Amino acid sequence: MDLANAHVVVTGASRGIGRELVEVLADRGARLALVARSRDALDALVREIGDERAAAFPCDLADSVAIDGLIDRIEATRGPIDVLVNNAGLDHTGAFTAMTAAQLRAVIEVNLIATAELCRQVLPGMTRRGHGHVVNVSSIAGSLPSAGVIAYCATKAGVNQFTAGLRAELKHTGIGTTLVEIGPAATQMMDHLRDYEPTAKGVRRLERLGLAPELDPRVVATAMADAITARRRHLRMPKRQAPISAIAELPRRIGSLVTLGLKTAPR
Ligand SMILES: NC(=O)c1ccc[n+]([C@@H]2O[C@H](COP(=O)([O-])OP(=O)(O)OC[C@H]3O[C@@H](n4cnc5c(N)ncnc54)[C@H](OP(=O)(O)O)[C@@H]3O)[C@@H](O)[C@H]2O)c1
Repeated sequence: MDLANAHVVVTGASRGIGRELVEVLADRGARLALVARSRDALDALVREIGDERAAAFPCDLADSVAIDGLIDRIEATRGPIDVLVNNAGLDHTGAFTAMTAAQLRAVIEVNLIATAELCRQVLPGMTRRGHGHVVNVSSIAGSLPSAGVIAYCATKAGVNQFTAGLRAELKHTGIGTTLVEIGPAATQMMDHLRDYEPTAKGVRRLERLGLAPELDPRVVATAMADAITARRRHLRMPKRQAPISAIAELPRRIGSLVTLGLKTAPR
């Protein structure tokens, strides 16, 4: 996928990895639609990049009314979308039973339902045009459940399974997918992980084993942009965690071998 002039939607663009990705993609000549709740942060980023290349679409992705028609609104004002990056994410660290019903729903809505819903909205247009790419940002937590973040882990496992299914369904359509599975990165999300001792202990043990060197969000964003250009199926960082994700992926790979040659594209 050539990023020069490509129209890319990035969710979770207001801070962290999403914000870094927007800057990297802008440097590579992409046109950007920025989604998150924080209108001021998105507007500041649009001013930094220039409003001919970027536009803000503030939206609470946990709100089914707000997300309804989001892709149509973006395409009506900015044109057809070439790449959708489902990066917005929400965790809640603590004992599962201490979560409120609203917190549990929000984690599932943002991480899993919004990811699937935005794919549902964007794919018909991409399929008609025979061109497009979808990036779903997951986590090592999708393969490695940890105490204190089990709802988050379950949503990321769902994103892994969903993206594998999507890839099978989109075979021969000209639309690619990239599943991003990363370990701890130095963003606001990581701060919360250390707030709850059982989770913090697990993180410290991974660090002691040398399995979780903290990633620089700019390095992650640069690798994501490279993965879109190369239309890579998977991006796994850091490298030493990649075998865990690859082993967890094995049954899905077997599934894709079993269905080899079957016509699975949408009709
Ligand atoms: N940091 C890590 O260690 C790590 C590790 C593995 C995977 N990841 C994944 O990487 C992705 C980016 O995370 P990050 O580390 O950059 O986290 P972050 O700094 O906390 O940023 C999260 C982004 O998601 C947006 N967001 C959260 N709730 C939203 C909602 N209801 N509606 C719309 N946007 C919402 C936030 O924007 P607003 O608050 O403005 O809405 C923000 O832009 C996530 O999918 C995360 O699960 C992160």
